[in-house]
Amino acid sequence: MIQLQNVTKEFKGNVVLSDISMDINDGELTVLIGPSGCGKTTTLKMINRLIPVSKGRILIDGKDIEEMDKVQLRRNMGYVIQQGGLFPHMTVRENIEIIERLEKKDPQQIMENTVRLMEMVDLDPQEYLDRYPTELSGGQRQRIGVIRALANDPEIILLDEPFSALDPVTRSSLQDELLELQEKVGKTMVFVTHDMDEAIKIADRICIMKDGHILQFDTPEMILKKPQDSFVANFVGTNRIWDSPEYIRVEDFMIHHPITCKGDMIRNRCIKRMRDHHIDTLLVVDEEEHLLGIVGRKDLFKANNPLVPAEKMMHPVSYVSHVGDNIVNVLKMVEESEVNNIPVLDGEEKLVGLLTNSNLVSTLSKQFLTNDTAEGGSSK
Ligand SMILES: Nc1ncnc2c1ncn2[C@@H]1O[C@H](COP(=O)(O)OP(=O)(O)OP(=O)(O)O)[C@@H](O)[C@H]1O
Ligand SMILES: [Mg+2]
Repeated sequence: MIQLQNVTKEFKGNVVLSDISMDINDGELTVLIGPSGCGKTTTLKMINRLIPVSKGRILIDGKDIEEMDKVQLRRNMGYVIQQGGLFPHMTVRENIEIIERLEKKDPQQIMENTVRLMEMVDLDPQEYLDRYPTELSGGQRQRIGVIRALANDPEIILLDEPFSALDPVTRSSLQDELLELQEKVGKTMVFVTHDMDEAIKIADRICIMKDGHILQFDTPEMILKKPQDSFVANFVGTNRIWDSPEYIRVEDFMIHHPITCKGDMIRNRCIKRMRDHHIDTLLVVDEEEHLLGIVGRKDLFKANNPLVPAEKMMHPVSYVSHVGDNIVNVLKMVEESEVNNIPVLDGEEKLVGLLTNSNLVSTLSKQFLTNDTAEGGSSK
């Protein structure tokens, strides 16, 4: 774990980072994002000890980095510098292999590793390994910068806007590579970007910074759903959650506490309860709120005795969803089943909510409204 504890950074009395604290978990990809000049690069440089903190401290696995051997620290930490940062007088191969060679790794292994990495970023080793950085395009330089950071298989990788000069297709495929890599080998990565879509796609957690402060440090889901303040909300962008509908969960839009009855409620009382609440179905539950079945209008008609209990009239429930399901799952279910009401269960299979066609429609329609109208409008 990388821990920043009350870190302040001043340049000649000018405070650029002001008492920031954050825990960066092992194996997670943490994204730093914020307006230009907010202190993202400065944060990475301090983690790498390129510059010292002015106040506070930075710990890695509980140990203050100031007490570690600087060279060792850097070798265990890949760093993709903003704007590439390749050594101009070295070939691509020498740039990639520099640390491995310093560590005196097996030359054959180094070579194979280099070829593997080049192929990972779609650059032909034959064609590019002997070139100098000036003989590459900006995007190619960035890709070499990324694989150089990976070459020595470090525990921690710091990436400062590593994909900024790439076209959208290459960028997206490198994002996928990075995610795959992270899933496979669980690297701890700190990734700086200006691109919120990129952040949402790749981050386990996003740290939104402004003027040397952390405004919000949370999962993409929470940042999308519960922006801390209006700056974060604007920064994230109105309705961006609709680009990631998998984060729109059933519990966010279901009807809470749907009207229920117990199995022994007789037909006449069921009718009254439905009338009183202007509903056409009753969910039948047991003492522990486990769902037993549904009583609809048809079921009521079929039972002609006013004293028949709900449990004798109800029909079984064929489709249910769970609080953590997302709206895409639910829409698929609705399409497949043509049901109008989908009961929602919690982790203990207890009934906690209900989805109806109308609340699905009203949820879906929110993406076409601005924040102002959505808040002012009737969402219930
Ligand atoms: N060596 C330095 N001396 C003085 N001020 C500096 C130095 N390095 C950075 N700063 C200032 O610190 C602030 C934060 O800079 P930093 O490079 O961390 O921003 P950033 O968030 O990475 O911005 P960008 O998105 O533009 O890369 C800026 O106001 C910058 O001018
Ligand atoms: Mg920067």
